[in-house]
Amino acid sequence: MNQNSIIRDAILSMPPEGISTFSKQIEDIPGIIKLTVGEPDFDTPDHIKSAGIWAIQENDTHYTDPLGTLAVRQAAADFVAKKYGIFYDAKTEVVTTIGVSEAILDVFLALLEPGDEVFLPSPVFPVYQGAISIAGGKVDYINLANDNFKLTPERLRQEAQENPRAKTILLTTPSNPTGVSYEDDELEALAAVAREFDLTVISDEIYAEITYDKVHSSIAKFIPERTIVFNGLSKSHAMTGWRFGVIFAPESLMEGIAKVHVFNSYDVSSIVQKAAIEAFTVGINDIDPMKKIYKERRDLVLAALEKVGIEAVTPEGAFYIFAKIPANYESSLEFCTALAEQARVGVVPGDAFGPGGEGYFRISYATSTANLEMAMDRLTDFLAADDLALKSQEA
Ligand SMILES: Cc1ncc(COP(=O)(O)O)c(C=O)c1O
Repeated sequence: MNQNSIIRDAILSMPPEGISTFSKQIEDIPGIIKLTVGEPDFDTPDHIKSAGIWAIQENDTHYTDPLGTLAVRQAAADFVAKKYGIFYDAKTEVVTTIGVSEAILDVFLALLEPGDEVFLPSPVFPVYQGAISIAGGKVDYINLANDNFKLTPERLRQEAQENPRAKTILLTTPSNPTGVSYEDDELEALAAVAREFDLTVISDEIYAEITYDKVHSSIAKFIPERTIVFNGLSKSHAMTGWRFGVIFAPESLMEGIAKVHVFNSYDVSSIVQKAAIEAFTVGINDIDPMKKIYKERRDLVLAALEKVGIEAVTPEGAFYIFAKIPANYESSLEFCTALAEQARVGVVPGDAFGPGGEGYFRISYATSTANLEMAMDRLTDFLAADDLALKSQEA
């Protein structure tokens, strides 16, 4: 019997996740500089590492309350209250998860009836789409390629009128892959449309700490009763390997979400929870030195792209640049494959981020300045050689 025949159709028909698939495809090219991974190159701050070590030495190595210890939930609630002005009751409105990755699946499993549709403004982080499929839902992409990658209230209203089966809208701010982020007035206007159409809002704010020259704003300020917020420590505290995420939501929604979490993972490692308390309290501003360096790198890459005539959105947050592929390439994949094979620079094809990403590529600048400088030199040489080849074809 074909082994695959017992796997659900929804799983079999899911396309593989595009970022890691492309990244794997090019990783064996000798000497390649990979700007594909969305992972801080900084080490976890020492004081957080010590908190984790201390937890092990103190035998803090047992199951905890499945939602997280009250201490870690309170620390997380205090952190977002102080930083973003959103307020949650640690006892009933906060659940800790194994990274935001778990939070995404928990929430879609809790919200979606079979066939329910979810608006995903695209380009968009591809993991949501996989989680929606696993949960039995369907994706309604809102292609933002012609709207400067920003969802407007007019567009959301139009989409909500045309797609009444969609009852959820997911917003990532700041965005992976574009770095676009939303202002208070924009979020307030989107919240009004969400309320008008009874949409539930999922707001992924994992990059909230990485904003440039502005303070992060959360849509939860404007529609708290229907918003589920994701946050975590992977990006803000360079803790991708620790696996720590948080869900904030009103109690009425959280009861169901918490149920899924308990059956899914039970609890987050007790050691990681101790380290997370340290990150949210003593490490409340740990991002500052990292953010300064990210901004320098962002400006370095933007300047290099401008020099070679590649258009890019100036990111207001996160650590990605979403840039247009040169006109002589037919697809993102064709350009990114050529760049990897011929110039040994790895970037992610824009189509990995849904229909709004075709024609673009994503650069992650969460890597050393030396790496970025070398990659930009290689890109410049590659485009110059391309130009020369085109001219000789025309002659
Ligand atoms: C927008 C977004 N959400 C969630 C995640 C997952 O993060 P975590 O490491 O907390 O699972 C990522 C990771 O790249 C991301 O870019």
